[in-house]
Amino acid sequence: MPLEPHRDASEALSPTVYLHPRKQSGSERTEMVLIGPGQVGSALLRQLGALQRAGQQAPTLVGILRRSGLCHQAAGIDPDTWLKAPSVTPLQSDAGTIARLFDKASGQQKIIIDASAEPSLADHYEQWLGAGINVVTASKLAGSGCFKRYRDIRQSGQGRWYYETTVGAALPVISTLRQLIATGDEIISVRGLLSGSLSWLLKRFQQPSGTPLSFSELIEKAGHKGLTEPDPLEDLSGQDVIRKAIILAREIGMDTDAAEAISRPVADLPPQSAYPFDRDTAAALNRQLTENAAKAAANGRQLVYLADISVRHGIRIGLQEVAATSPFATARACDNVIEIRSRRYLDNPLVIQGPGAGPEVTASGLLAEILQIHHRLKPVAGIQGLNLCSDAAAN
Ligand SMILES: NC(=O)c1ccc[n+]([C@@H]2O[C@H](COP(=O)([O-])OP(=O)(O)OC[C@H]3O[C@@H](n4cnc5c(N)ncnc54)[C@H](OP(=O)(O)O)[C@@H]3O)[C@@H](O)[C@H]2O)c1
Repeated sequence: MPLEPHRDASEALSPTVYLHPRKQSGSERTEMVLIGPGQVGSALLRQLGALQRAGQQAPTLVGILRRSGLCHQAAGIDPDTWLKAPSVTPLQSDAGTIARLFDKASGQQKIIIDASAEPSLADHYEQWLGAGINVVTASKLAGSGCFKRYRDIRQSGQGRWYYETTVGAALPVISTLRQLIATGDEIISVRGLLSGSLSWLLKRFQQPSGTPLSFSELIEKAGHKGLTEPDPLEDLSGQDVIRKAIILAREIGMDTDAAEAISRPVADLPPQSAYPFDRDTAAALNRQLTENAAKAAANGRQLVYLADISVRHGIRIGLQEVAATSPFATARACDNVIEIRSRRYLDNPLVIQGPGAGPEVTASGLLAEILQIHHRLKPVAGIQGLNLCSDAAAN
């Protein structure tokens, strides 16, 4: 049975502005555990450290879990100190071990932040939410994985699941769709550039900002900047975009699974390709993209990697030539551009645009959701509209 699209207006609102943050007493503290102090997780720790240094209220970080083990301090881990000497104790963890890191007596609000790309963690969300723990995730795996698990997570427990950063990093994409649906609008399609890394790669390849680099050299550079997925093949194969498209499709009421998406990779890589590429694979990739970009340029057009999610026609994803004046072509490197067509925004679609990848912005999106739980206050409606532009041509 298809899921109802989100109609809960309180979930639809972004945490941009808070009314009257309350002082927290000791018995009301929020505790959190971070899974994955990688690029996004470390940026989150730096931002938390900065909040604390500025004397702002923030949840108490009681655990940091990584592949090699756990750091657990019931009294709280200082993010700045941990980042200087990131030590962990070896531990085989399961859902229960992680849930038991919280202090039963004091932690009224509990948050698990999944900033990993570990598939098995998505199997634990339902259990955590059922135990009243909130889950804030940058990982797309639960939102785009098996539909039954997704539905079970969505319908489970007392904790709430926050996943705005899984599409467009800190851009208000999911919250905007929810707001439209909650206020009675009907979404027709969502189309756009959903991969900040592919936007960056294709832009820098077709319009170099300095010495032109081959596509494979650019992939390496994007990896160093933290723009690609931990495995860049997820970006190049279109997997990352498919996942985001599925998350958005489900948000607007489509009960889609990956098999239903029509997708093409950025280039036809041999099936056993692994990153870093060997010399022949890199050369073939560079040749294909050079040819495709030259063909597009000869027509006065540009290559972009576009996702099209249509309630009537399903999901289509792939490399496309668009007019050089299209908002998809004029977007800045790294930008996501998301064009929403609905009954209200039919001829003139609503467009959300901005940096859609990178550890800093992604971490800021996670932090906004963490603070929303921490303050347990409803944000002011409408303020997030400041981030939006309803006229694609204006960009
Ligand atoms: N980078 C972006 O711009 C961006 C944007 C939106 C969403 N995301 C999502 O954010 C997530 C993290 O991305 P990232 O770029 O920060 O990746 P990353 O640098 O590779 O970090 C991944 C982290 O997860 C940890 N980890 C992996 N498996 C684990 C396990 N079984 N148990 C505990 N920890 C585990 C790793 O541990 P070790 O430290 O031991 O290696 C590492 O700390 C991904 O799901 C990605 O899709 C990223």
